[in-house]
Amino acid sequence: AHDAREARALAGRRVLVTAGGTREALDPVRFLGNRSSGKQGIALARAARDAGAQVHLIAAHVEAELPQGMRITRVSSARELQEASLAAAGESDVVIMAAAVADYRPDTVGEHKMKKSEDGTDPVIRLIRNPDILRGIVAQREERGLDQLIVGFAAETGDPEHSVLDFGRAKLRRKGCDLLVLNEVGTDKVFGRDDTEVVVLSARTGDESGARGSKDEVARFVVARIAGEPGVGTG
Ligand code: CTP
Ligand code: CA
Repeated sequence: AHDAREARALAGRRVLVTAGGTREALDPVRFLGNRSSGKQGIALARAARDAGAQVHLIAAHVEAELPQGMRITRVSSARELQEASLAAAGESDVVIMAAAVADYRPDTVGEHKMKKSEDGTDPVIRLIRNPDILRGIVAQREERGLDQLIVGFAAETGDPEHSVLDFGRAKLRRKGCDLLVLNEVGTDKVFGRDDTEVVVLSARTGDESGARGSKDEVARFVVARIAGEPGVGTG
């Protein structure tokens, strides 16, 4: 259902997509993780590929089939994702940061599998903050003067004083990216599901428009919004 022009909206553009959820090791067999399936990020990578882009997908523990027709790098932890993403972003026209990055990691990683203590004292896990990968990519763009569009994601619940949109607008400003793809999460919304609803906020144009549908439909909408940003698309 796409005409040739729409289908090639990102022809030749180098697009980096991160997807999935990072895992932070506690010991050789245990980790702290999150519920991200990576389906939305993979759908975005496919949609960008189908729009003619040259796609590099960095996948952290995705629960979906990896697509054909693109370069794929697999990572596990936030710091591995950071290293791979910064390097790949240096060679990308568009960066789509869809991965769910652990905000914290255990401050020590056991070299051996932890055993229950003999004396009944239970362990306490101390957490330290992971680097903000998206902000690092924004900083790298400034340092190198790259002509690059950077897309962040946010899954918010809102609270009694703030709507999901309030949080999204604040996050767009704080992160310094160009587009923010915002979705509302609840216990049974979004994670692992096949249908979704997003609002895309643009820092450059102020546009705030949304779509709902399957993750593939939403991905095509987001790719169209990316291609529609000033200076990005080829259409
Ligand atoms: N992100 C990142 N590095 C992190 C955390 C998040 O690059 N350490 C990216 C995510 O991939 C996403 C965007 O930042 O594109 C927003 O993630 P989110 O978790 O909503 O933002 P945080 O800054 O971690 O804010 P919060 O305290 O609300 O979790
Ligand atoms: Ca976070």
